Amino acid sequence: MVEFTKLSKHTGVEVHGVDLRDELPSSTIAELRRLFVENCVILFRSQTLTQEQLVRATGFFGEVANYDRPLDLQTEQQKRQLPQVMLITNIREDGKPIGALPDGEMWFHHDMIHNERPHKATMLYSIEIPTWGGNTVFSNLYAAYNEMPADLRSKLEGRMALNAFNYGARFKGDPEAMKTRKQAIHPAIRVHEETGRKAVYVDRLMTQQLIGLPDDESEAVLERVFDFIEREEFCYEHAWRKGDVLLWDNRSSIHARRDFPADQIRLMWRTTLVGAPVKVAEPA
Ligand SMILES: [Fe+2]
Repeated sequence: MVEFTKLSKHTGVEVHGVDLRDELPSSTIAELRRLFVENCVILFRSQTLTQEQLVRATGFFGEVANYDRPLDLQTEQQKRQLPQVMLITNIREDGKPIGALPDGEMWFHHDMIHNERPHKATMLYSIEIPTWGGNTVFSNLYAAYNEMPADLRSKLEGRMALNAFNYGARFKGDPEAMKTRKQAIHPAIRVHEETGRKAVYVDRLMTQQLIGLPDDESEAVLERVFDFIEREEFCYEHAWRKGDVLLWDNRSSIHARRDFPADQIRLMWRTTLVGAPVKVAEPA
């Protein structure tokens, strides 16, 4: 039996007594996977991992993906990591960030929703953290789907949405983002292929347009949806400690990053799981 505590009403569980360096029995791995897909976020505190061990632990939950950014858009330091590990840090050398997504606040988003086949999940392992700030906030979009007012939900049911992202953008129109842009069309409500449950599948950072609605209506609906799905009642806010390993489900949750001091170091390793094609939800 895996021991755990819930981190908030809807989102997140913290697992106790698991060292991710260990060989875990398949029954334990199955239990961890179940806790993960049901709660959107799973947390392991006080871990000590090499990159190889992090990649192996990620593999308990599925097939580990390689970092998706094209090689010519990666920094020299990034190229020295294992191919599965993305460097997330504000460390700069000669004034240039050595990792992706350097500083500051970042709007709510699904990782990789701008790709045809978005990664299922993302794992972060914290190595160095600032004295304050940099929390990650997660919202459970099964719960947001279930509790959304019917008139608003009906605007999303059976509809597709255009999602786009400029590498490095922290908010829409970020002037520091790269010009390289990637986009993909996905259902605004999706089905999670493991739980069979429906979840909202749009977000403030990356969703540009509800297809088939006039621009002004699309914008007004999306604004209402974003405000609703980001409500505190659906969220868990994670205050990072050194050694935290946290895995979140990009099929059923969004996340945002709070601001943190630019003159303090924040360093994390990120891994992801290969995804399946996005499953369209039949209108209710
Ligand atoms: Fe993210």
